[in-house]
Amino acid sequence: MTHRMNQYNQLNPAIEAQVEALLQQMTLAEKVGQLVQITPSIMPDPDQLTELLAKVGSGEVSIEALFKPRPDLEELVRTGSIGSLLNMANPQQINQLQRIAVEESRLGIPLIVGSDVIHGFRTIFPIPLAEACTWNPELLEQASRVAATEAAAAGIDWIFAPMVDNSRDPRWGRVAEGSGEDVFLGGVMAEARVRGFQTAVSPGGRNIAACPKHYVGYGASEAGRDYNPTELTERTLREVHLPPFAAAFAAGAGSVMSAFNDISGVPASANPFTLKTVLRDEWQWPGVVLSDFGAIAELVPHGVAANLKEAARLAILAGVDMDMMNDAYAPYLAELVAEGSVPEAVVDESVRRVLRLKLALGLFERPFTDETLLNQTILSDEARQLALEVAQQSIVLLKNEGDLLPLSPTKRVAVIGPLADARRDMLGMWTLFGKEEDAETVLEGVGRYAAALTHAAGCSLAGSEGVDETAVLAAIDQAEVVVLVVGEGANMSGEARSRSQLGLPGQQQALADLVAQTGKPLVVVLMGGRPLIVPRLLEQADAVLMAWHGGICAGRAVADIVFGAVNPSGKLTMSWPRREGQIPVYYSHKSTGRPMTGEGVPQFGEPFKSRYIDLPNEPQFPFGFGGSYTTFEYADLVVEKTAVLPPSSTLVVSATVCNSGSRAGTEVVQLYIRDLVGSVTRPVKELKGFQRITLQPGEAQQVRFELPIAELAFWDAQMQHRVEPGEFQVWIGPNAVSGLVGSFAVVAGD
Ligand code: BGC
Repeated sequence: MTHRMNQYNQLNPAIEAQVEALLQQMTLAEKVGQLVQITPSIMPDPDQLTELLAKVGSGEVSIEALFKPRPDLEELVRTGSIGSLLNMANPQQINQLQRIAVEESRLGIPLIVGSDVIHGFRTIFPIPLAEACTWNPELLEQASRVAATEAAAAGIDWIFAPMVDNSRDPRWGRVAEGSGEDVFLGGVMAEARVRGFQTAVSPGGRNIAACPKHYVGYGASEAGRDYNPTELTERTLREVHLPPFAAAFAAGAGSVMSAFNDISGVPASANPFTLKTVLRDEWQWPGVVLSDFGAIAELVPHGVAANLKEAARLAILAGVDMDMMNDAYAPYLAELVAEGSVPEAVVDESVRRVLRLKLALGLFERPFTDETLLNQTILSDEARQLALEVAQQSIVLLKNEGDLLPLSPTKRVAVIGPLADARRDMLGMWTLFGKEEDAETVLEGVGRYAAALTHAAGCSLAGSEGVDETAVLAAIDQAEVVVLVVGEGANMSGEARSRSQLGLPGQQQALADLVAQTGKPLVVVLMGGRPLIVPRLLEQADAVLMAWHGGICAGRAVADIVFGAVNPSGKLTMSWPRREGQIPVYYSHKSTGRPMTGEGVPQFGEPFKSRYIDLPNEPQFPFGFGGSYTTFEYADLVVEKTAVLPPSSTLVVSATVCNSGSRAGTEVVQLYIRDLVGSVTRPVKELKGFQRITLQPGEAQQVRFELPIAELAFWDAQMQHRVEPGEFQVWIGPNAVSGLVGSFAVVAGD
């Protein structure tokens, strides 16, 4: 099926004419109104927010009931004082407000409703980090389309996703929301997600716009602590953090969310370099910049603005078009214009961008949502099936000693651990509209297969109370194998969920110790929003699956893999540290003057190399790593045509991959390069391509990559983006540290 692609960042003359016509009629107050986005309710007491949100998560209260409606909301809409609302999903309420906007406000400009739909609306998919481990952009595109179709049926026009922040620090809780550490993979996934959202058209004919976030550098928050500053050189910004945004825009994204963090002294939400020089001057991108929730107000505690009015001035002048919940533009923007400290032309330009998006979305023609659609649209069988497939493909096999997995269904299985039957936790960290009752647990999943099943939680997720030894030993007593389901709960990753220690919370390691002592074969199913540092557990287990938080079909997907109905194919998209002290540990690091591997300067032996005296440099599991129930062999790397290529040509490189085991399996074949000598230091490896291939036992396939030499460009010593001639290495392999290696050279010319 082909899907109509919506581009929200191409100027369309018909729309531009409508924008100008509207702008001519607008008062300054109405212009400012278009730049204001608020929630429809009064924010609850911040001290109670976490607790209240947990209640929403467990289904105790609905998101709508949590927040008291703003008494002035209808009047704000009627007077054109707001242009957008966020985090609503009630079509009746949205229509009622939209009717006031369209029929009762002076110019009839419709509202645009934005919302966080991070890994599904009602059909909850695995967390985005897990989704990325599928290395299957087509599947993610479909999942994003489902999420957007469901959201559109609820009256949502604008999705605050994908989060495209690359991050190399698993202490940062928001790694759960992104695609991992890699620039290339992050870009591919960003594009796929934007395409998925923006090709969705709800049955009622409504379109959806994506809003990639958080622009920019947020994933580099110092010490992995959320909202912390970043120190980023222009080169690192350009090479690591900006590319996924460029990819999202190339896929048609017409809005972006500006981040909370400061970038080497200049906060991202008042940063003329990133917001103007890069976004507008270099990229000529005409979309809307929406501030993150409170990011303009935060310019005050950042210490670059003395007060909210000053913050408003800095943000609008830097290029932040819309104020999300800062209460900065509404009270101060008109005043700043009247005083002459903000030219009205700047406000006009921001209003143009907002109107452009509303017009391009078709909101003027179709402002209302068909209120009957929601129930027929959500949780379709196809959507559930897709959620299952994504979950299956996202699970990463980390260890399988003695081929313990897959288990035969004739086994008597004990399913132990606080996450074994934790329905809510399956949904993951950011599911405003997901429902616990939709999710299947691991216990239920295993129950579909196992001949006999016993269960004990054994301990709580994070509490300090001891392990329930009696229950655990009783459950294990008759079992032939133990499936231990441990890790982080859903609320231990995501926003504001940074951790300094990435081990098992609470008493879970003590529980694992107890189970391990029984000597029963042990399968560990790890769950979490990030790689977890569990060296002892990795030793104790015979087999380990990283199952993340897998969404509504998490339990079924785990069981399908445990019992071999599905052969695991997920591969890590973040290096998995051995210890917190290694962080940041990532595969595409620079060499250093004293590298541990390869040729160093001869007079310096091991003690004086770049290393730890108490730990290897390498992570526990490398980027790109993931096991299978079969084996794949790589042979015959061929760098085709010529090894000497001018910059305008294409490198063609291939290898033969053979399924040398006894089961059909899917392998993610990865292409890496290294630029050996540059005018600035270059990463020791860079991913440049990948292909998922499925092979029957004994089947071999030649996997061929075509890499335009232009994609080897980088920001050179003069900050010019170009390909430098010279020698390169190229690998085709199963992960970032193994594979076949060849070489080629790029010569100067054309
Ligand atoms: C988050 C954003 C989110 C926004 C709106 C903020 O706290 O950083 O990612 O889109 O809230 O809910």
